[in-house]
Amino acid sequence: MVMSNIDNIDKNKIPQHVAIIMDGNGRWAKSRNKIRLAGHQEGAKSVKSAIEVCGELGIKYLTVYAFSTENWNRPQSEVSGLMNLLVSSIDKEFEEINKLGVRIRVIGQTDKLPKSVQKKLSFAIENTKYNTALNFVIALSYSGRWDIINAVKTLADDCRKGTVNPDDIDDELFENYLATAGIPDPELLIRTSGEERLSNFLLYQLAYSELYFTNVLWPDFSKEVFYDALINYQKRERRFGKTSEQLT
Ligand code: FPP
Repeated sequence: MVMSNIDNIDKNKIPQHVAIIMDGNGRWAKSRNKIRLAGHQEGAKSVKSAIEVCGELGIKYLTVYAFSTENWNRPQSEVSGLMNLLVSSIDKEFEEINKLGVRIRVIGQTDKLPKSVQKKLSFAIENTKYNTALNFVIALSYSGRWDIINAVKTLADDCRKGTVNPDDIDDELFENYLATAGIPDPELLIRTSGEERLSNFLLYQLAYSELYFTNVLWPDFSKEVFYDALINYQKRERRFGKTSEQLT
């Protein structure tokens, strides 16, 4: 019998929101003498597994870093390959994802994406907006600094217009201006491929998140790797600046 770690997960301590930096597609492809895009294609399958795990365990939000602001600097062929992959993945998986009750959302500078991608995303967002099982948030042309600066600009504008009093600005008010407004902060961030940095991902939102790094390359990210990350997370004590004694 094949052993699974799913039974070692405490179903009463499931995080609400998991964020993932999907890294290592290029290295995965290189080690197999394949082109980088082949790594991204295999990576798209790992995204599906991650969505399925969230469904199994009742994780309500999954945010994936699919394309950073900095990724625009990659070779044009890779950028267009990734854009095409996004569209073809939606085409291929939409029906099943919709059936699972997944609501697709997007954060980032979507106006910078090719029109065909924008159109496909709008379709997916619009047609899943009443789904409630899992919020699948795709970060596209996203960067944490952009998110914060964009929020500050809109907030400054509201202050100038007089709809917000600067004295009233606190965490709660500010969060409404971020791309993730209404979405709880991730309790857990996973990054694959052995790199241990945030790379301009959800900088504000990850303030108190547990960080989990694995050497597994994203195309090899199986359900079992996700279970291991969750088990590791559940062993940690989240203190939010308090002492251990104050938590009991
Ligand atoms: C990082 O690996 C990965 C990316 C920049 C792209 C991630 C995109 C996908 C997995 C495509 C599918 C996404 C969805 C939402 C369907 P890398 O290329 O930086 O790897 P390397 O560091 O080994 O070069």
